[in-house]
This record gives sequence, structure tokens and C-alpha cells, in this order.
Amino acid sequence: MIMTCFRSVVQVVLFSVLTALATGCKKTTKPQLAAVATLKGTASFPMGTSVVASPLSERPIYQQTVLTEYSSITADYEMKLDIVEPQQGVYNYAPGDFIVGFAAQHHLRMHGHNLIWHQALPSWVLNFQGDTTAWENLFKTHIQSVANHFKGEVASWDVVNEALFDDGTLRNLDHKQGDGTASIWRQHLGADYIARAFTYTHQADPNALLFYNDYGQEWGGPKLDSMVVMLNNFKRRGIPISGVGMQMHIDINVDTAGISNALKRLAATGLLVHISELDISVNPGNIGNLVFTYALQQQQATLYQFIAQSYKANVPSAQRYGITTWEFSDADSWIPNFFNRPDWPLPFDNQYNKKAAYFSLLKGVGN
Ligand code: XIL
Repeated sequence: MIMTCFRSVVQVVLFSVLTALATGCKKTTKPQLAAVATLKGTASFPMGTSVVASPLSERPIYQQTVLTEYSSITADYEMKLDIVEPQQGVYNYAPGDFIVGFAAQHHLRMHGHNLIWHQALPSWVLNFQGDTTAWENLFKTHIQSVANHFKGEVASWDVVNEALFDDGTLRNLDHKQGDGTASIWRQHLGADYIARAFTYTHQADPNALLFYNDYGQEWGGPKLDSMVVMLNNFKRRGIPISGVGMQMHIDINVDTAGISNALKRLAATGLLVHISELDISVNPGNIGNLVFTYALQQQQATLYQFIAQSYKANVPSAQRYGITTWEFSDADSWIPNFFNRPDWPLPFDNQYNKKAAYFSLLKGVGN
């Protein structure tokens, strides 16, 4: 009896010592850190950001955030015409090459932006004198030189950017309403230049996915209607188009029903749908001394989550090319410079800390 009792006491003590040792060992040799969720690790589709070559090479926190959070990158301006072809036939690929090299080294998807746009044009294009044939040659040569240079390194291209006026007509020289910024391309190349841009790009890089990219789809109305007509027309004619980009430069007063409607209608074309340049401005009224209050932070965060959820709800998974923000930190957003006002449009703050917007976007992209 005494022996049995003694044996059980020894067993209990031994068991406790062994358990304590085992637990102790586990604690010291394998610290159990809670994994920190990331955007790319949470979403079932690519999460992207646009980047600029200089901070990517020089600012460790910038580079680190890109590598931790994103699976796709787009160049802010390093592939635009004024940078890559500052003089006719003189190409400057170094900044773009740095970005594609970074993408290749870190296995990130590289989205090319853009081949044809009415902005970012150098004076040699704006002042070019030539007949229709000379213009067509300039247009085709630019597209094919750039697409050929980055062939195999970019997965996709925004082939044509912002070719429609806000009223849905083709951006031209003689238009005065809405966004009246002219398009020299339409003026010299005729109405079907957009389709030809796709064909030329496809000839140069048959493996790249080709996108039409624009803003304002969430307004609905004539711009969205014409875009859908154009995309369906390209598909019917066998023009090599793979997808459509919704820039989504929006602000906190956006009509959310318009976002869902646009996603649904663009998805109905059967094309890939890329939210390509997302940012959510909180100061659309240009208030010079605006404070980014808690209420504004929450309002912005709710919208980020809504966009991700609406994307999943309205775009079938096979058509989700991903969600890309235009930069990721308020420190690097184009909005404050472009509109000359304080603003905080992105998921990371000026110090690269995660904002409420980040956490809501994270929640929105998850299942
Ligand atoms: C912006 C860049 O972020 C700026 O650095 C540049 O000065 C102007 O262009 N729509 C587009 C992008 O398609 O190319 C623009 O990028 C933002 C609006």
C-alpha cells in the first residue's frame, strides 16, 4: 500500500518535471510568435502598389513595406513616354529597368504603366509635324520599342490610359466640357487608334496581358456606358485585350452603389478587372487647414473595407487581377502635390505606420 502510494507520487512528480522541462524547452527553443497578417498573405488575389524608383532603392522602410505587404508593383511614372523617350528615338530605360529588376529579384508581378496617354508627353511629341503616316509610325514605334524592351519582364500593360472624356466621348482636341484635356493621339490617328495600340503591343509582346485603364467608372452614366461598349466591341473584333483597369481615385463622399455597379458591369464583359490606382482622398473640398480627425480616419477605413468586399462580391475570382493602391504611404501620395492641399489618402501614414484604413482593407480582402 505504502509502496503503491510512493510509486504514484513518484510518477506524478516525474510527469510534472518532464512536462515542465518539455514546456520550458519549447519556450526557449521555439518562441511562438503570433504571425502578423499582411495584405498579400490575406488576400486570395494579388495586392499591389505603385512605386517610385528612388525611395525603392534608398529608403529601407519603403522597400521593406513593399516586400512585406505587396505581390505586385506598378511604376508611378518611370515607364511613361516623357521618361522613356525624352527625345525621338532616344530611350531612357534606366529608372524603369531598376523597378523591373526589383520585381524580378523579389518575385513580384510587374504591371506596366503606360504606353499611350495624352499626358506625360515631351515637347518632341507635342510639336511633331507630320502627316497621318508619320504619326502612325511615331505611335507604333514608341509602343513596340517600349513593349519590346520590357518583354518578359512585365506581366501586363496599361496599353491606353484615360482615352475617354468624362462625358463618354473620345478625348479629342476640340472638346470643352468636363475634363477638357486634349488628346493629341486621337487628333492625329483617328478614332480607332485605341484598338491599334492593343494590336501593336500584342505584336511586340504576345505574352503580356493588355489593359485599358481609366478613371470615373464609379460615376456610372455615359463614361461607364461608352467604356463597356468599347470593351465589348474590342472583344467582338478579336482585338487582343485582356482586362480593364479602374483607377479608383475616389474621395470619402463617393457613392458606394456606383462602385459596385461599375465592378459588376465591367466584370460582365468577361475581362480581367484591376482596381489599378486606388486612393481615397479625405479633403475633396481643398480645405487648407484640415485636420485628419478620428471621424475622418474611420470614414476612410470603412470605404477601404467596402471596396475590397465589393470587389470580391462583384468580380468572379478568375477575373480578379487584383487591387493596387497608388503608392501606399501618405508621405508619397500624388494627391497633396497635385491638388495643393493637405490629404491622407493611403493605408499607411506619413511615418509608414499602418492606419485604420490599412486594418480595414486587410479585413476587407480576407474571407
Ligand atoms: C501620377 C504620378 O503619381 C505623379 O507622380 C505624376 O506626376 C503624375 O501622374 N492617373 C494615372 C497616373 O494614370 O499615371 C497618375 O500618376 C495619377 C492619375
